[in-house]
Amino acid sequence: MKSTAPRFYRLDSQYSTFFVDATGTGVPACRYWGPRLGPDADPECLSLLHQLARVPSGLDQPVRLSLFPTLGFGFWGHAAFEGNRRETHWAHEFQLTHIEYRDNHLSISLEDPIAKLALSLEFVMDTTTNVLKSRTRLTNRGDNAFDLRWCAAACLPLPAVRMELLVFQGAWTQEFQIQRILFPNTCWVRKNRRGRTSHDSFPGLMVGTHGFGADSGDLYAFHLGWSGNHHLLAESLKEGERQIQLGELLMPGEVILSPGESYTSPWAYACFARGGTNAVSRQLHQFVRQRILPTQVAKKTRKVMFNTWEAIYFDHDPAVLNLMAVKAADLGIELFVLDDGWFSQRSDDASALGDWDPDSQKYPEGLSTLIKRVQSLGMDFGLWLEPEMVNPDSNLYRRHPDWVLQLQDRPLPLARNQLVLDLSQAPVTAYLFDTLDRLLRRYPITYIKWDMNRDLCAAGHQGRAAYRRQTLAHYDLIDRLRAAHPGVEIETCASGGARVDYEILRRTERVWTSDCNDAFERHAIQQGFTLFFPPEIMGTHVGPAISHTSGRRLSLNFRAHTAFLGHFGIECDLRELDDNQLAELKTHIANHKQWRDLLRRGTYVRLTPADENRLAYGLVGPDRNRAIYLIVQLAKAKPNTSNLIRLSGLDPKQHYRLKLMRPLDPSVEKYLTNRKAWVETGLVANGQSLQEAGFALRLQFPETSVLLQVERE
Ligand code: GLA
Repeated sequence: MKSTAPRFYRLDSQYSTFFVDATGTGVPACRYWGPRLGPDADPECLSLLHQLARVPSGLDQPVRLSLFPTLGFGFWGHAAFEGNRRETHWAHEFQLTHIEYRDNHLSISLEDPIAKLALSLEFVMDTTTNVLKSRTRLTNRGDNAFDLRWCAAACLPLPAVRMELLVFQGAWTQEFQIQRILFPNTCWVRKNRRGRTSHDSFPGLMVGTHGFGADSGDLYAFHLGWSGNHHLLAESLKEGERQIQLGELLMPGEVILSPGESYTSPWAYACFARGGTNAVSRQLHQFVRQRILPTQVAKKTRKVMFNTWEAIYFDHDPAVLNLMAVKAADLGIELFVLDDGWFSQRSDDASALGDWDPDSQKYPEGLSTLIKRVQSLGMDFGLWLEPEMVNPDSNLYRRHPDWVLQLQDRPLPLARNQLVLDLSQAPVTAYLFDTLDRLLRRYPITYIKWDMNRDLCAAGHQGRAAYRRQTLAHYDLIDRLRAAHPGVEIETCASGGARVDYEILRRTERVWTSDCNDAFERHAIQQGFTLFFPPEIMGTHVGPAISHTSGRRLSLNFRAHTAFLGHFGIECDLRELDDNQLAELKTHIANHKQWRDLLRRGTYVRLTPADENRLAYGLVGPDRNRAIYLIVQLAKAKPNTSNLIRLSGLDPKQHYRLKLMRPLDPSVEKYLTNRKAWVETGLVANGQSLQEAGFALRLQFPETSVLLQVERE
């Protein structure tokens, strides 16, 4: 039964309004989504003003974009839903049956009586952060199976003004690369089939008014909270409307609903903001902090960590680790993470995944001796694990070759010499839970780096595609482990940042953003990452002087600055650093500790230097008393461009003291005018003039940077 009036619903947040028109008998539509409208906005009028003109050679009654357009009755764009019942019921027409609205939470129930399907669409607007989340649920009310191919988690309209898309591409060590393209006149589609969010196709996009910048333009952001396969779509429709769809990509036969069964999509997240990428990221960051992340991220200091990977790889020698721990503690490190290579027979990446016992040669007394040493030096201990994987050359695989995802009589491609355990099998997850639980009970481990180093293919469970089941079972395994060990923090890693989204972040405290420790390349990755994610979860490390993944040599100063405004870590062989370098690194760590409270609570602000080879961004404290900005000269400045920096985010009425943080790159110091003020006494200026007029600062050499500390006078 359809409930009575109102037939228009508005979901309001601090800054935006989402208007739903449910006046018809079919699927309701969003008639407005944009800046918040006043109380007098007339929904009926909005709907009338936006009626479509009849297109020549079109249907007599054009079919408008709804919140769930379907196939078969004159909607010519991509439908939000595809599926069929044997050879029938491929076309669908849902009728509205019921609407519930409470506190910015809208639930729409629909039914297709002919196809015998029930559908519910759910929208929840978060009033303070402005983020709208949405999901769909489809139920088979028929008496035979329904084969579901596509069920969007959200189908949202965009205003038909000149717009640009911001999308992501990437590769291993090059995640979150931003690409800007004109909103297509046709359709832009991204399908990810890798079984994790992937290096190349992060499940998010933004759409902004043409030419949008860090502080200018209207932006709409979209993200799918799902760690498996996904499908994103941006389309211009012939009648002038535009739609964005996001959802889980389903393989053929992956979801076949038996009578009475339901499919619930992942949550999709969307946000409108006026004021460029800074405004939209500010809202998304707040949302992630308040509604997604486990509470300990907000409450606990982000500890500076040492990770052994690029320091020693598989070469675990307790004497060397001991030395490394001493040096790490002396530097001020607070968390020592033992990466891959600690378990039995693991001398390279060809064997032993699955056998999670400490190697008796490397660690004759188990991990206790090392952990005690680490703790006696005042550090916590963390451990690397890759629970979902197995090497064929392992005791686990020899015992249980049937425990992997596979398709019978088909090839089973290896990646990094490993296969994927089939988490839909109860004995597999029981084994994994017991093994991890035992490790956490046996040792005082406070942190797990949970890795996942391959894409899924031939991902079959009893012949059926199992990407979805695998993703859900993975969540379940982490959830059970967290419930049993609530104090343990988890980092999500997948050969770097190939599994990052709002759903995995409900159960993890940190992201290993990328295997790229090349500070130069890292900037592009971090710029992309921070569009959707706050900086306190962004794992970022000071790597070796010569990058292992690119061969580029960079100064310690530049490497430390690049990691400074994220969850800071060190990942290099500390034996290679001389006393001067160790002292310099120690100072960077001490500096970071003085400013890191801004990570969890501050506002991330991108600046817009005139020189396109320059990059600048910062964190401004919640009360705008302090801020820290990083100014980076990536390549030599373009000829004849201004070196002016304008600081946004400060209180225009207040006065601030500005100082460049030491240690400074010698080349920067050499070219400083007014050196004494910049590095010793500080310069005092008013927030408004810093924002409007800015200041000149020359960074002559490429691959140099400065940290600018700003404190209220
Ligand atoms: C992945 C991770 C690295 C490291 C190695 C260990 O590549 O991204 O940080 O942990 O695995 O094998």
